[in-house]
Amino acid sequence: MTSSALDIAHQLEVTPDLLRNNWCVPRETGRFLHLLALNTPGARICEVGTSIGYSTLWLAMAAQTNGGAVDTLEYFESRQELAKQNIESAGLSGVVHFHLGQAIDLLKQFQAQQAQFDFAFIDAAKKEYIDYIQLLEPMLTPGAYVVADNTRSHRDEMLDFLAYMEASPSFDIAELETPNGQLVARKR
Ligand SMILES: C[S@@+](CC[C@H](N)C(=O)[O-])C[C@H]1O[C@@H](n2cnc3c(N)ncnc32)[C@H](O)[C@@H]1O
Repeated sequence: MTSSALDIAHQLEVTPDLLRNNWCVPRETGRFLHLLALNTPGARICEVGTSIGYSTLWLAMAAQTNGGAVDTLEYFESRQELAKQNIESAGLSGVVHFHLGQAIDLLKQFQAQQAQFDFAFIDAAKKEYIDYIQLLEPMLTPGAYVVADNTRSHRDEMLDFLAYMEASPSFDIAELETPNGQLVARKR
């Protein structure tokens, strides 16, 4: 983990309105993502929902440690620009690839390119989580982790996703009962 990346994370945390207005995860979720991604061999990471790059920072720190990379998806250009600035300030530009567009379209492009991921963080349009996981699933390597945010705060918008994951023979799952809620899944 580089100290400058932690400095940038801290600088963002002292502007809580900026983080809140851009729907960034709380610090403990960032630390959790970092910890889990650190333990993922390969660390080819797909993040659906960049915003201004706060969770990207935590994922990119793990990718840098493990020799991996983060592909992060966002459709709002000005947020992506801020994310690029934050990642560059943190010295992590070399491990983050930014993609601009609708997440579903971008995931379809990744599939066409036969991309593979060892970790996925899902944090964009809540009603589309079911589409994201079904597109991601064939690209996930055995043992890959998936973290889906807001399973408690936005539960009603993702009931189809939650039912799919509960019934899936492809994943072992657990739900974290944090205020926002996260579903954690491991590909079999
Ligand atoms: C909850 S925020 C992401 C926060 C970020 N993961 C963090 O914790 O720092 C969700 C982001 O997804 C983007 N988004 C929403 N729907 C999207 C879509 N269909 N395709 C691409 N990005 C989308 C929003 O513009 C927003 O910036």
